Amino acid sequence: MLNQAGFDIFAGFLKARSGLSIGPDKMYLLESRLEPLLRHHGLRDLQSMADKLRAGAEPLASAVVEAMTTNESFFFREERAFAHLAERAVPRLRAARPAGASLRVWSAACSTGQEAYSVAMQLAGQKLEILGTDIADQAIARAREGLYTQFEVQRGLPIRLLAQHFRKDQSQWRIADALRAGAQFRRFNLLDDGAGLGIFDVIFCRNVLIYFDQLTKSKVLAMLARRLAPDGVLYLGGAETVLGLSTLFAPAPDANGACAYVLG
Ligand SMILES: C[S@@+](CC[C@H](N)C(=O)[O-])C[C@H]1O[C@@H](n2cnc3c(N)ncnc32)[C@H](O)[C@@H]1O
Repeated sequence: MLNQAGFDIFAGFLKARSGLSIGPDKMYLLESRLEPLLRHHGLRDLQSMADKLRAGAEPLASAVVEAMTTNESFFFREERAFAHLAERAVPRLRAARPAGASLRVWSAACSTGQEAYSVAMQLAGQKLEILGTDIADQAIARAREGLYTQFEVQRGLPIRLLAQHFRKDQSQWRIADALRAGAQFRRFNLLDDGAGLGIFDVIFCRNVLIYFDQLTKSKVLAMLARRLAPDGVLYLGGAETVLGLSTLFAPAPDANGACAYVLG
């Protein structure tokens, strides 16, 4: 069992390194997620892991962050966002861009890729550049692979789209090459400055701010505001809002129940 000082080392490290904010009630979560790493890193117990972590040692530091991330995702999650994207945001953005221009879409905590590929399916046939980023390397690797279990394709993906955009690969389902080729995936920490990523017409940053404290949420929203085109659209998760966190964004006037925001 980890003592309070050990817990505080993990909590401080996670917050500084990934934004993840864990209270003392998360002791069990910490233990259950990190104990499986002990053997691989040649450590006796979580207390010795905390000591080693204090020195910021890699690859342990990345492994701890990764183990503490929650990578739950599914296709067309909170589907009103995808309807808003296709019916409201994209027609408006297309009208404002030169004919034939690509729209740039960023899935900013993409986990295993379902969000980025949902965009690709929703807007299939259109000129798009989709970037998916996440802090967790294993999730990014899965997103790049584009291979999903039967369970994963049964969550949220209409059968018509499964038939249209996936092919069976042994017992799993592989996303069509054309869709995979239109999406790039790379590691990016939302606490970093995203200047190198360029400007996006649409940003999805969903179901990740919930893990951060207020100050971190505000900082991440400010970073996203710098990456969004002046007439772009930001989608947050259903349990997330900018209210009380950022005056840079306002709810999109045509949101119609989607968590869609525009620069205010
Ligand atoms: C619950 S998933 C959400 C996936 C997807 N956006 C969705 O809504 O289905 C949260 C993701 O945020 C990622 N994440 C957590 N902290 C992050 C950070 N500081 N920078 C980038 N990604 C982060 C996690 O690795 C995880 O894959």
